[in-house]
Amino acid sequence: KNLFQLAIDGPAASGKSSTARIAAQRLKFEYIDSGAMYRAVTLAALRQNLSPLSLDDASKISQLAATSHIFIHTIFNPPPIAHTSSSKPSLPQTLVYLNGDDVTHDIRSPEITKNISGIASNPDVRRVLVEKQRAFANGIYDYEGDKLNTIRKSSKGVVMDGRDVGTVVLPNADLKIFVTAPARIRAIRRFKELQQSSTNKSLIDFNKVLEDLEKRDKNDYERKISPLKKADDAILLDTRDMSVMEQADKIIELVLERA
Ligand code: C5P
Repeated sequence: KNLFQLAIDGPAASGKSSTARIAAQRLKFEYIDSGAMYRAVTLAALRQNLSPLSLDDASKISQLAATSHIFIHTIFNPPPIAHTSSSKPSLPQTLVYLNGDDVTHDIRSPEITKNISGIASNPDVRRVLVEKQRAFANGIYDYEGDKLNTIRKSSKGVVMDGRDVGTVVLPNADLKIFVTAPARIRAIRRFKELQQSSTNKSLIDFNKVLEDLEKRDKNDYERKISPLKKADDAILLDTRDMSVMEQADKIIELVLERA
């Protein structure tokens, strides 16, 4: 079965993953968060006391990437959260398992984000993960106990978001989008997200959020292997004045033009 492949790349907090999940839900596509895979390997390395920045540990970490089971599962149309009165529909939720363990929350910690660039610039880790990502885009990619990462029979396509999906992972994707917005705007979005999910809002410092974001962008744009880059044939989507719903609408329109 030939699946429509939609590749969405862009810098941190550009709105890729929310947009990708909403578009996937509406188009009946499968969603794969390639960043979650780099996050899961980072977590696996830290749990084994391996240092992502140490050259001595690089080959152990790539072995770890090859032997780890990463299972990603998106729940489309989740029931609304009971205690909120918001009329906003809930976003699809992506659950991530590492060797059977639910690591959905653990992979989003600041500790992981801080250490991820060492993992993302490890060429052997990238080779292993790109292979898994391509297999997923074609149907199946990993077993986890009785669970199998696979696309639903009803899926018409896949959406994958990341940094190198259009350039490296799926160079023949049917549609490539490169999402951008100025760093300040992206930092405001991330800041609001952090405030919403935090119990102690006063601990979150906007300037620190902006600084961390710019540092991660710089690492992603400047690394030698598979840097963050717009593919020549990708459509540039500047989201500075767009809501997530507007971004999803735009992307769906572009898919339907090609499907
Ligand atoms: O998308 P997310 O922000 O969760 O990605 C976390 C990190 O994983 C990125 O900053 C980048 O270093 C790395 N990554 C990557 N290639 C991808 C996806 C993510 O190098 N395709």
